[in-house]
Amino acid sequence: MKILLISSSPHKEKSQTFLLAQEVLKGCTNKTVKSGVIHLRDYRIMFCRHCEECHKKIMHCPIKDDVPTILREMLEAEGIILASPNYINQITASMKALLDRSSHFIHCKRLLGKYIIGVVSSGSGQDKDVLDYIKHYAYICGAQYSGGISSRAPVNKERMEEAFKLGNKLSLDIRGEKGFLAQTKIIEEGKEHFKKIIKIRKNEWIEEYQYWQDKGWL
Ligand SMILES: Cc1cc2nc3c(=O)[nH]c(=O)nc-3n(C[C@H](O)[C@H](O)[C@H](O)COP(=O)(O)O)c2cc1C
Repeated sequence: MKILLISSSPHKEKSQTFLLAQEVLKGCTNKTVKSGVIHLRDYRIMFCRHCEECHKKIMHCPIKDDVPTILREMLEAEGIILASPNYINQITASMKALLDRSSHFIHCKRLLGKYIIGVVSSGSGQDKDVLDYIKHYAYICGAQYSGGISSRAPVNKERMEEAFKLGNKLSLDIRGEKGFLAQTKIIEEGKEHFKKIIKIRKNEWIEEYQYWQDKGWL
């Protein structure tokens, strides 16, 4: 079982968000868990240019930076922890830039069968919008949302314990291949929406159309 933690705080190991997210990772107590940590600050991430190359040719991007490496790691993981400080009631720009570059995941529901956890910290502890955004990202990529946790900084012992429990839940969800009925409905509706678009754009988004055909979704 592979769990990938992607953290977007520029404070890296000293980050309050990362402290909390690391506790989620520790809570994944399954012995077979392999984990990976990515601090976005260490990576070169440029903005999406909306050239649609990745839809025409899957995972192909003309921008030469570190994003394709991170996206491949996401595809290899079964569980993904997306950890971001709250920046003006949103995820950080670095995290948003990464997610924007993953729009092929959305078109082809590439995170189907995977589980996502959101982790946020802030000065106020008012993080619902940020966690909701991470949840939204999970659904549009086809993933189940195992849950989210946020904390006002500095993170206290109680929050750390909650984070550990959430990690525990994540590994159980993955092991049990747990599907949450209400979430599956949202994911299926999203798929129906994209089915129409993929058909309309079939002559442009050639490889994504092929992907849908190969999956037997058309
Ligand atoms: C650009 C910027 C925007 C921020 N916006 C908010 C905000 O809207 N609400 C809030 O409560 N805290 C806000 N903060 C505070 C951070 O979310 C908070 O300090 C957080 O715990 C930092 O996490 P880190 O230690 O993981 O980097 C902001 C901080 C920065 C630098």
